[in-house]
Amino acid sequence: MVKKKKVFESRTILTDTVLPSETNALGNMFGGELLARMDRAGSIAAQRHSGRVVVTASVNHVAFKKSISQGSIVTIEASVSRVFTTSMEVFIDVWVEDYVRGGRVKSNEAIYTFVAVDDHGHPIEIDEIEPETDLEKERYQGALQRRQLSLVLAGKLKPHEATEIKVLFDKLES
Ligand SMILES: CC(C)(COP(=O)(O)OP(=O)(O)OC[C@H]1O[C@@H](n2cnc3c(N)ncnc32)[C@H](O)[C@@H]1OP(=O)(O)O)[C@@H](O)C(=O)NCCC(=O)NCCS
Repeated sequence: MVKKKKVFESRTILTDTVLPSETNALGNMFGGELLARMDRAGSIAAQRHSGRVVVTASVNHVAFKKSISQGSIVTIEASVSRVFTTSMEVFIDVWVEDYVRGGRVKSNEAIYTFVAVDDHGHPIEIDEIEPETDLEKERYQGALQRRQLSLVLAGKLKPHEATEIKVLFDKLES
């Protein structure tokens, strides 16, 4: 039976530092290193939610807003924002801690899609998610448009079938 789970139940938080081998010539973290860490945190959240092995289906959005320097303490927070049938959208927020003065600054964010699979690698249906906070509800609402955009770009949905995106553009034009 498909049941509803809360977002906090699968939220995943990974904290780690940035080593010299993970930085470029300017001493800042490689983008690929951050993508790998976000993928790891996101996949754990998706596995916790679904209780299944998951695979990364797409990286829908990544914004590298601020560089992250060597020695920084980086916290990656991954939360399932919406479940469709076998796929899940996961939001990843990245924070850099100011361990001298205290506090933290948001440096990056990304949106990944994971698919739960069975022992043969075939997509399998998963439990629904119930957003509770305002932010969780906002991300849940927007997920349908982001999913259609991702499927259009992947060639899995015809542009004229992307009805949610059309509604969005119609609203922006009016
Ligand atoms: C992702 C994968 C399981 C999809 O399998 P598939 O046979 O194409 O299955 P479907 O087309 O039915 O898609 C399954 C789900 O994924 C979603 N999906 C597939 N591609 C997607 C994309 N680009 N963006 C968003 N969602 C996507 C579908 O919408 C569907 O979701 P739903 O069941 O919630 O409606 C398959 O392509 C795969 O195993 N890819 C390799 C994954 C991997 O190895 N990742 C790591 C790369 S190193």
